[in-house]
Amino acid sequence: MEASHVSVLFEESMSAMTVHPGGRYIDCTLGAGGHAEGILERSAPDGLLLGLDADPKAIEIAAARLARFGQRAILVNENFFRLREVAERLGYVGVDGVLFDLGFSSVQLSDADRGLSFMVDGPLDMRLDPREPETAADLLNSLSEAELAGLLWRFGEEPGSRRIARLIVQERAKRPLASTRQLAALVERAVGGRHGEKIHPATRTFQALRIAVNHELERLSLALEQALDLLATGGRLVVIAFHSLEDRIVKRFMEVEAKGCICPPESPVCTCSHKPRLRRVSKGVLKPGPDEVAANPRARSARLRVAERIELWQ
Ligand SMILES: C[S@@+](CC[C@H](N)C(=O)[O-])C[C@H]1O[C@@H](n2cnc3c(N)ncnc32)[C@H](O)[C@@H]1O
Repeated sequence: MEASHVSVLFEESMSAMTVHPGGRYIDCTLGAGGHAEGILERSAPDGLLLGLDADPKAIEIAAARLARFGQRAILVNENFFRLREVAERLGYVGVDGVLFDLGFSSVQLSDADRGLSFMVDGPLDMRLDPREPETAADLLNSLSEAELAGLLWRFGEEPGSRRIARLIVQERAKRPLASTRQLAALVERAVGGRHGEKIHPATRTFQALRIAVNHELERLSLALEQALDLLATGGRLVVIAFHSLEDRIVKRFMEVEAKGCICPPESPVCTCSHKPRLRRVSKGVLKPGPDEVAANPRARSARLRVAERIELWQ
């Protein structure tokens, strides 16, 4: 498999991280190694990089791409919710930048065996890490109708969640759900092609299942906390998110960590003792320009947020 993934918001993320020679960086989502390569080039001759990915195939691809940097790069096949453990073990504490480029790569998307896309027929797997216990098929064939509807609503913001869940339960009684095409066709039957919608009717269902299978939202929250602890003063936290549920978590995290007191407004005195640990570098989000979106449609929904650590790590 070749590295055919185009890194999103590449220049923007390099400058948001203020990559410089001798710096130490963590890339929590190596993917095809595009951002990691940029970090290693711009931190030459002595910058160091720790890279993580939950997907063993991504590690293989990134390792081949980054081989020329030798000992300057350490790559670990691990989920980023274990970031602290990995970073402490390898001495990556007090680092200059931590990058998250969330979601999945084009390499993963086009790999039919993963079942991440309704565009290619494959098994309903959706795990980024094959060591995870549950596939999308397991969830689809075992959750109750109410649980399925809840999952589609919470993680896909799918307005037709109840109709889809009902049809899933009806269909699986005849034969278990097994393939991406089968699921995509079922969703289309349940909600129809929505008039005026730009996205395929199954987009939200696939997003919801992928988030549930990989525990994406809770793991992102856990990893952001750990990333902040690992940053040196002045170190940058850079996150590229691809859907509003992720982006909301990142936005809220950066807002809260940039605040002093976080007591409810009606509290007469502060009881939280919360101290700001981040400074927002730019208030809003950075989005790809029209040229990038035209060249790489996957970039369309990307949102980059950046913040700086403002207290000495200890
Ligand atoms: C968008 S791709 C990264 C592309 C990369 N920045 C590049 O330029 O080639 C996202 C990667 O993050 C990985 N990933 C997603 N969630 C993860 C998690 N919780 N822990 C570790 N890796 C994760 C995926 O397996 C995928 O390879």
